[in-house]
Amino acid sequence: MAISCKIMLLGFCVFGLVSLVSSANFSELFEPSWALDHVAYDGEQLKLKLDNYSGAGFGSKSKYMFGKTTVQIKLVEGDSAGTVTAFYMSSDGPNHNEFDFEFLGNTTGEPYLVQTNIYINGVGNREQRLSLWFDPSKDFHAYSILWNQHQVVFLVDETPIRVYTNKEKKGVPFPKDQAMGIYSSIWNADDWATQGGRVKTDWSHAPFVASYKGFDINGCECPVSTNVVDNAKKCSSTQGKYWWDQPVMAELNLHQSHQLMWVQAKHMIYDYCTDTSRFPVTPAECEHRRW
Ligand SMILES: *[C@@H]1O[C@H](CO)[C@@H](O)[C@H](O)[C@H]1NC(C)=O
Ligand SMILES: *[C@@H]1O[C@H](CO)[C@@H](O)[C@H](O)[C@H]1NC(C)=O
Ligand SMILES: *[C@@H]1O[C@H](CO)[C@@H](O)[C@H](O)[C@H]1NC(C)=O
Repeated sequence: MAISCKIMLLGFCVFGLVSLVSSANFSELFEPSWALDHVAYDGEQLKLKLDNYSGAGFGSKSKYMFGKTTVQIKLVEGDSAGTVTAFYMSSDGPNHNEFDFEFLGNTTGEPYLVQTNIYINGVGNREQRLSLWFDPSKDFHAYSILWNQHQVVFLVDETPIRVYTNKEKKGVPFPKDQAMGIYSSIWNADDWATQGGRVKTDWSHAPFVASYKGFDINGCECPVSTNVVDNAKKCSSTQGKYWWDQPVMAELNLHQSHQLMWVQAKHMIYDYCTDTSRFPVTPAECEHRRW
């Protein structure tokens, strides 16, 4: 996919093209990370396979700070109970940050759930669960993570389903100093994934296959050869060098806010923010949410 100029100023593109990566070719951006015999790429579509021997996964060759990453996924068709397909960003180490999409399979004809979670400095426990407004196993749909210094936004077909806003001024941690890789995997999680773990994976229906296409990373690349401080300096532009640093990207626009309210009103199944048995004290980031 070509890099589009989001902001024009006096006829010039405001952001620099240097170190932005955007492409639809899997092998330029990603590589299989485990169970290579369960990963198949035909030049257009990539398939990850889960059977009773193994799941599979792939990861980005580079790490990134800020930007937007999108992949189109067609989830396991038919009986997907017990399986989890994940698409996520993560940094390394015990104090890692992580932004997760986890698609929880179900028995034939029953709906998938999408669980999102956010880890900051190694701590997660920020689960939300949603149903979708379409069957994600019938067609490819675009799943994206937008990340800048103001917010992390999870999007499904460009509709925001979750926002984690930077509230550092209120003492709430926000992930903004670790470069992250981009990953996907499929694995067996029948101890918890489907109907609370009551429905187990039926291996007679294996292999379970998730399909991918439309790989796109539009972010600030952090070469491993460059040290952490220099990468952070390059990627944390305060002058709006990158499109995701433009003021309009600091929060959802009105239309997107309405979309998010709709999703949360109609499709929210679980929200850790309102789970008072787990969190008698409301987590700080949940206070004063506008939605
Ligand atoms: C994808 O990129 C790789 C590595 O640059 C190249 O060898 C391959 O021909 C490309 N494939 C397609 C379908 O463009
Ligand atoms: C995996 O499933 C296949 C086909 O159902 C079966 O033949 C094989 O014994 C199983 N292997 C293991 C390790 O369970
Ligand atoms: C699976 O289907 C059941 C019954 O419709 C539903 O309660 C559940 O939320 C669905 N999703 C998962 C992941 O269990």
